[in-house]
Amino acid sequence: MPGVSLVGSGSARLSGTLTNDDLSRVVDTTDEWISTRTGIRERHLAAPEESLSSLAAQAGRAALDMAQVAPEAVDMILLATSTPDDLFGSACQVQAELGATRAVAFDLTAACSGFVFALVTAAQYIRTGAFQTVLVVGADVLSRWTNWSDRTTCVLFGDGAGAVVLKASEQDNLLGFQLCSDGSMNGVLRLPYQAQSAPLTEGTTVQQGTFTPITMNGREVYKFAVSRVPEVIEKALFRANLSTSDIDWLVMHQANQRILDAVAQRLKVPSDRVVSNMAQHGNTSAASVPLALDEAVRSGRIKPGDIIATAGFGAGLTWGSAIVKWG
Ligand code: ACO
Repeated sequence: MPGVSLVGSGSARLSGTLTNDDLSRVVDTTDEWISTRTGIRERHLAAPEESLSSLAAQAGRAALDMAQVAPEAVDMILLATSTPDDLFGSACQVQAELGATRAVAFDLTAACSGFVFALVTAAQYIRTGAFQTVLVVGADVLSRWTNWSDRTTCVLFGDGAGAVVLKASEQDNLLGFQLCSDGSMNGVLRLPYQAQSAPLTEGTTVQQGTFTPITMNGREVYKFAVSRVPEVIEKALFRANLSTSDIDWLVMHQANQRILDAVAQRLKVPSDRVVSNMAQHGNTSAASVPLALDEAVRSGRIKPGDIIATAGFGAGLTWGSAIVKWG
């Protein structure tokens, strides 16, 4: 069975920056409240002319460049997003923008767990021998779905895109994984479609509506994250035949610095092994894990051979962990 190696990473550079002080002029909040409760100091927002697919393509191109893989060599593009430009999917637009003419491309939706779910999904296509080269992108523009008058949610989110390139190899560097869902808790974090009945003919009524901005029960999400995330990382480590002391880097979904600290403490991973870019990016949903990974790779912190415990968690509810060796 072919193995999987991770040969490149990339992320998009967004032009717009919104600081906590900027936000304090939008809603009744302060830099002090936001930074002490979440660790966030600023976030980047997509400009009106930046589409989800253009940001995803930018991240994908950077990852392909690092991997020294030509777009025409890509067999598949998996785009993890909850905020596509088009409800039919945005992966094909990414494919066209990259010129990855041979690649099949489709979207995968699992909210903030999307990148980890897509990474594991992509690896299965490589392990079966179906594909040799896969681009996995996590991208979200939650600023377009945030209620900017709700201070309990709007301070948390930012926009972003990150990507990795996976290639078939003799060694398998996806060492273990565990993916989970619990739809019975769907109500704690939602971006729901709200329909209104529109009579069409006598006896026929269709539903017409729109998606409504994010609603969240912050305390329930917090409790869910600090209990389920350490557990799922431990299960993935068990499958990899590793223990927490083998982890070189913890690269988790960047939802809240207090969640990152609590999970690291439960797993007894020292704080200097926890990758955090919360302060600069906030919660970028499906982009947060590949963005944090890419920044750590490019700054030289993560090196080939390092063991990384990735973890995603969010709406669905969904949560999961993939243990990978970089390179
Ligand atoms: N500025 C100032 N005050 C605020 C703000 C704000 N932005 N937001 C809420 N408050 C107030 C509340 O109104 C409340 O005031 P009250 O006591 O007078 O009623 C007070 O602050 C405390 O509010 P809580 O909601 O209890 O604050 P909490 O300590 O729980 O922190 C937070 C809220 C940061 C959202 C926390 O619950 C949390 O981090 N939860 C996890 C949320 C999360 O990570 N979500 C995303 C993850 S999943 C995904 O990524 C999609």
